[in-house]
Formats: sequence, C-alpha cells, structure tokens
Amino acid sequence: MKITDLHKKIGRFELNVESLSVEPGKIHGIVGSNGCGKTVFLKLVMGILNPDRGYIDYEGILPQEITMMTQRPYLMRTSVYKNLIYPLKIRGIRPDEEKMDELLDRAGLLEQKKQYARSLSSGEKQKLSFLRAMVFEPKVIIMDETLSNLDAESEELFKELISMRQKKDPATWLIVNHQWDHVNRLFEAVHYMEKGRFVKNEIAEG
Ligand SMILES: Nc1ncnc2c1ncn2[C@@H]1O[C@H](COP(=O)(O)OP(=O)(O)O)[C@@H](O)[C@H]1O
Ligand SMILES: [Mg+2]
Repeated sequence: MKITDLHKKIGRFELNVESLSVEPGKIHGIVGSNGCGKTVFLKLVMGILNPDRGYIDYEGILPQEITMMTQRPYLMRTSVYKNLIYPLKIRGIRPDEEKMDELLDRAGLLEQKKQYARSLSSGEKQKLSFLRAMVFEPKVIIMDETLSNLDAESEELFKELISMRQKKDPATWLIVNHQWDHVNRLFEAVHYMEKGRFVKNEIAEG
C-alpha cells in the first residue's frame, strides 16, 4: 500500500502524510503518543474517513478485503457462533462448521459457542472479535488498540494466531498496541508518528 500526500484536518488537528510505503504481507506497528493521529490515520486507510486531499494506492486490495478492529468490540445481540460467522454470511460464503469449532476451541470459546455473545467476559469478547475479523481471511487487518490490557495467556494466543495466519497466507497488519511497542519482535516494521506526521520508519532485518 502506498500513501502519497494524504491530508486531513479535523478541528484543530492536521494529519499530513507526505509519503508512506506499507509493505504488503508484513506486520506493521504504528507508534506515537496520545493524540498524534494514529486513529485518524487508520480510519483514513479503512475508508471510514475521507481525506481532504491525497491518495492511497491499495495496490489491488478491495475495500471488502480490509478489516478494522477497535478497542471496544462491537458484538451483535446473538450467539457467539452467529457473531463469528457473520462476516462469511454477508459475503455469501458458507461456513465450514468444523473449522469454526476448531477456531473457537483454540481460543477457549467452544463451550460458549451457543452463549449470548454480549454476556462474555471482556477478554472473551476481545477474542471473539479477533476471530470474527480473521474468519473471512482479510488481506489487510487494522487493529487500533484492540489487544491492549490482555492477560499474558491471551496475548500469547493472539500472537500465535497472527503467526499462524502469516505462515499460511500473509496479510498486511497495521497494529497500534502500547504494550507491544517495546518488545516488538512481532512487528516487522515500525512507523513512528508525531503530531500528525510520520517521522521515522524502522524495518526489521531478515
Ligand atoms: N471528530 C473529531 N473532532 C475533533 N477533533 C478530533 C476528532 N477526531 C480526532 N480528533 C483530534 O485529532 C487528534 C488525533 O486523534 P487520534 O487520531 O484519535 O489520536 P491517537 O493517536 O491517540 O489515536 C486529537 O487531537 C483528537 O482530539
Ligand atoms: Mg487512537
């Protein structure tokens, strides 16, 4: 994905991305202090916000192949399972129930399959919203502080699920996560933001 001269003014805040190249199939971290424009940037990539000017070249990726997870998961008023398969349903794809069960099992949610999704604990809700976003195998996955404040076990699970996906069919990830900034072995590239601008990129070797 290539971003050129992207500009957005919201209130007194201005985002200005002169040029940013997001290598496909890699895990990218976006790092910067509160209010520097991470969420505004991610919403522009997602297409939730329209830029005042500028251009994002998605290099062939379609809007329906991009997904964004926010910090507080939005779950529908139905069961865990129906929430999980929703992205498939709206795309007219028939879910493979055995595969879905496997995924739930891996996340420790199989017993809750028929449970009302909104009655899950907050950690379980995060897990379900993550699985739901992964289920249609999107090409670009944006996580805006989705996996913040997780316990160590869930954190490992998410990292494992991310690695699993990357081995199978690498997606492009854009991740904002304060806990992962410092031990960023997961990130293959880190893009630093300050006051609405990208100021530095670090690309991991190998
Ligand atoms: N809808 C809005 N109206 C006015 N200001 C906004 C709006 N959305 C975001 N901002 C401002 O834009 C700046 C960047 O916000 P944001 O991208 O959410 O920061 P963060 O890096 O913490 O995610 C902040 O100063 C915020 O107050
Ligand atoms: Mg934010």
